[in-house]
Amino acid sequence: MVERFEKKFAEKCGTAHAVCVNSGTSALHLSLLAMGAKADDEIIIPSYVCTALLNAVSYIGAVPVVVDIDPATLNIDPDHVKKSITSRTKAVIAPHMFGLPADMSALLESGIPVIEDCAQAVGGTIDEKPVGTAGHLAIFSFYATKVMTTGEGGMVVSDSRELIDGVRDLREYDEKGDFKIRYNYKMTDVQAAIGLSQLEKLDGFIAKRRSIADAYYKAFETFNIVLPPRDTGHIFFRYVLSMDGDPERIIRELLAKGIGSARPVYKPLHRYFSSNGCPNADTAWDRSLSLPIYPSLSQEDAERVADVFADVYNHNNK
Ligand SMILES: Cc1ncc(COP(=O)(O)O)c(C=O)c1O
Repeated sequence: MVERFEKKFAEKCGTAHAVCVNSGTSALHLSLLAMGAKADDEIIIPSYVCTALLNAVSYIGAVPVVVDIDPATLNIDPDHVKKSITSRTKAVIAPHMFGLPADMSALLESGIPVIEDCAQAVGGTIDEKPVGTAGHLAIFSFYATKVMTTGEGGMVVSDSRELIDGVRDLREYDEKGDFKIRYNYKMTDVQAAIGLSQLEKLDGFIAKRRSIADAYYKAFETFNIVLPPRDTGHIFFRYVLSMDGDPERIIRELLAKGIGSARPVYKPLHRYFSSNGCPNADTAWDRSLSLPIYPSLSQEDAERVADVFADVYNHNNK
């Protein structure tokens, strides 16, 4: 099942190879190791993202260089990346945040290897090509809340046989002729069987997400709030709004009316180091809110979410 899932997933991405692991975080960890990253190397990551990236970089004793985001896309800003490159920079991890592809061509211009983090963007495209094909290698997550799931799970894809063989070797420790540190990061056959079934449904999941996003775009077009960028490659893992006012209050009022919404990132990474160097990530955290979006949300319920949000927003901005 694992081999079948790897083969089908590589076909879907249009990459030569794929290797299953047990989470997106282990996919990042093994990708860094397979690229030869080691203690004291610098790895550039954005601030506005979950701590999985910070953990993967820290597992190998490398130095996380946390940079700011582009306020228009909420993705890592290629200019900030360029300014942060030193002789110790080993790689950049570029997540496609909330399903919107990052600017891969600008990121690749620097010549530093890029790990494309597609944990939130499976099935998305850049210039009509699937995400996961632009960088040196790419990782995916199939955690329970992701666009397609295996409960927990992850994948690394690449055209490089060498990088994929490196990841494949490190993901399990048994029956090896030599000893070096290896991991138990295997995906199980049961998870892979679920992954194969989810992969069949992926296009349908994304179509449903896009139609809910369309309903939200329509409902909020006259509002003084910043809506997600319109991009044909966006898969809307999250529908993220940015507005004046306190998201916490709006989240509470929506919840009182039966609607779950959330800040899309728990805490910008630079704040773990009490640094104040990422003002765009701070502003995104201060102003952003993500509304319910998932395939089983009916069109009728999406319209109700939009109506209730409009009431709450208007009441808070009188
Ligand atoms: C951008 C990004 N990268 C990596 C991960 C890690 O994936 P996992 O939870 O499967 O370890 C996540 C998970 O939420 C994520 O959002």
